Amino acid sequence: MARFEVSTAGMRKLQAGRPAAHLAKELISNALDERSVNKIVVSIRKIDTRNALFEVEDDGEGFADITHAWTLYAPTVKQRDATVRGRFNLGEKEILSVARRGFIHTTSGRVEFDGDARKFSAKNKRERGTVVSLEMPWTKEQCAEVEEFFKTHPAPSAARAIQQALERIRLNAKWLERNRQDLAAWFSARSAMKTPPQ
Ligand SMILES: Nc1ncnc2c1ncn2[C@@H]1O[C@H](COP(=O)(O)OP(=O)(O)OP(=O)(O)O)[C@@H](O)[C@H]1O
Ligand SMILES: [Mg+2]
Repeated sequence: MARFEVSTAGMRKLQAGRPAAHLAKELISNALDERSVNKIVVSIRKIDTRNALFEVEDDGEGFADITHAWTLYAPTVKQRDATVRGRFNLGEKEILSVARRGFIHTTSGRVEFDGDARKFSAKNKRERGTVVSLEMPWTKEQCAEVEEFFKTHPAPSAARAIQQALERIRLNAKWLERNRQDLAAWFSARSAMKTPPQ
């Protein structure tokens, strides 16, 4: 028998008190961590007065290990790579714990979450890329906060571009200077996000 169990309800209670944008950006952070990703499409829209649909889709190689979609703290290759953001195998579960329901559809299968249950199908694979689609209990105001956050933190694309530029070892110093502030905001927002919920 496993040493620990996780209470989804308890996790949801802790995470639901955090700003919606801090949960939302974990999914963008994950897509940015994948070297195979060139394009990330984020969408958010109200579906009724109490809920919003939040989706992040990328064009990468997809989940290498689909069990990492639901395993908290599993060791990952990311932990040995200082150039990526992911460390704890936790960020995506934080937003998942708050979602009413949703799914992750990737190259290694499709997993659906509804209430506290999970259903996985290895047969239903995407050719390429990953989409994380979540029904979030977000108000109009929270949706506006998420949108505002992405508008005022354009750094994910800058970070991606910087990473690609570094890979090619062709860094335009002026361009980096211009984006440095955005990047600083992105990273400080990320560390704020990791502070324990109140
Ligand atoms: N868009 C994606 N494409 C490919 N793999 C992904 C994607 N999103 C998540 N993953 C995989 O799922 C794992 C879990 O993501 P999660 O955000 O929970 O943890 P993490 O990024 O490793 O660490 P952190 O808790 O610091 O964010 C990742 O380590 C990665 O292997
Ligand atoms: Mg992550």
